[in-house]
Amino acid sequence: MALRNIFHEGDPILRKKCREVDKVDDRIRTILDDMIETMRDAGGVGLAAPQIGIMRRMFVAEPEPGEVYCFVNPEISDVEGMQESDEGCLSVPGYVGTVERPERIRIRGLDRDGNMQEYVLEGFPAIVMSHENDHLDGILYIDKARNVRPVTDEDGE
Ligand code: NI
Repeated sequence: MALRNIFHEGDPILRKKCREVDKVDDRIRTILDDMIETMRDAGGVGLAAPQIGIMRRMFVAEPEPGEVYCFVNPEISDVEGMQESDEGCLSVPGYVGTVERPERIRIRGLDRDGNMQEYVLEGFPAIVMSHENDHLDGILYIDKARNVRPVTDEDGE
């Protein structure tokens, strides 16, 4: 495994729409593994492929320590409710902002082995998946947030 460089806001690569993955093969698995390592090294809870310059529809997430998700060609549906919280992003280092997200989502997509998986998630995991999925369409949380501000000690991170 290897750490990858994370692209930062202002780089046009983060604003492009990603293409679907044709096949989950060893090349894709290597990228996913690198993404997990890179996410953890950076102290994040999610990382989408375009953030490391790979324009394919896939992301990794770890909303709780040890609870790792890999999603390839994800689709979110059955969006319900609303929750608001402060978000950050590894591509917008040093800032947080307040974002409204669905309280509950259904998410389907391929896993690291190319098998279809489906989850109904609510609360924080629903926020993380929604945030990462937006990256695949070139959307950053700062597009939706209010009160984007530098992180202070009070924000915790
Ligand atoms: Ni992000």
